Amino acid sequence: MTHVSETTTPERSAIETGDMLRAEPYMLPVVPPPLPESPGPEEIADLSAEIRELTAQKNAVILAHNYQVPEVQDVADYTGDSLGLSIEAASTSAERIVFCGVHFMAETAKVLSPDKTVLIPDTRAGCSLADGITAQQVRDWKAENPDAVVVMYVNTTADVKAETDYCVTSSNAVAVVNAIPHEKEILFGPDMFLGSYVEKMTKRPMKVWMGECHVHAGIRPADLQGMLDDHPGADLMIHPECGCSTSAMEYLACGDIDPDRTYILSTGGMIEHVKQSDAPEFIVATEEGIFHPLRKAAPDRTFIPATEGAVCGFMKTITLRGLRDALRDDKYHVEVAPEIAERARIPIERMISITG
Ligand code: 13P
Ligand code: SF4
Repeated sequence: MTHVSETTTPERSAIETGDMLRAEPYMLPVVPPPLPESPGPEEIADLSAEIRELTAQKNAVILAHNYQVPEVQDVADYTGDSLGLSIEAASTSAERIVFCGVHFMAETAKVLSPDKTVLIPDTRAGCSLADGITAQQVRDWKAENPDAVVVMYVNTTADVKAETDYCVTSSNAVAVVNAIPHEKEILFGPDMFLGSYVEKMTKRPMKVWMGECHVHAGIRPADLQGMLDDHPGADLMIHPECGCSTSAMEYLACGDIDPDRTYILSTGGMIEHVKQSDAPEFIVATEEGIFHPLRKAAPDRTFIPATEGAVCGFMKTITLRGLRDALRDDKYHVEVAPEIAERARIPIERMISITG
């Protein structure tokens, strides 16, 4: 691993000072599978009816992330962001959880509900960000920083969570870091943009792992500037994983972006925001699946992508057909070894108890 510098100041983020670690060998984003074809309206209606019937027969609950295709979100019992889905998975009374999201999210459900059956409709639903750090790399990092507290975004495998002190999601990362005693050094991973955002918000230097999500890293500051010029009355909503989130903080500080119109939010936070804002238009910097719940929440407003083509191919491996097959054929089971699950549960439960 490469240590570039041991110190940052609260005013300068890890990205600016270069005080970050890169996974070695650096794992380039795995190319996501090609996007499947969408079914027509009749097939959607038939499959949805079959899925609802199977859900009742099998005492199952369908949890779907906000990036899922619209027809999967519409047939789900619950849709939400990572935090909302974790809380729902922990509290459901259903015997089976069918998780329409990516693998680390389904693993989190299994960790929180070890006695339940957790199914994922497509085994290719990975995450390039979660793949950017391994449990061994976290162990090595801890060995080099024995007094530090490890804070990891939930976009990590259960093995990595087992090495972690606190998990965070995009909606609670600032609150969780603020709850950690101030004198404690923090190792934060694996998303460098979220890490840099948290440093700025908490005014607290951290050591940040240099991982990124290939979808969000592709949303660049130049995209925002042009959009803001074209839509002066719009609210700007940015997911903290975006490549533009840290520069947006700079623009805010310099007065180049109106702070009253710029919001750095989780996907769930975006849905809540549009319900109470009076803006006629919203520029949205995150994966395009979010447009479906945003339009449902505020059908009279206009939503504009900050950049075209921000699509997570991993999320899109889940289809209505795949979901029906998973329920009908009882596949694919998500398993976490009990000794790993026991350790991985601790940082997730700490997170939920701080912000749940
Ligand atoms: P949220 O928790 O904001 O839904 O984000 C999850 C994710 O994977 C973002 O890419
Ligand atoms: Fe992972 Fe990025 Fe897809 Fe979210 S959008 S699931 S972080 S690859």
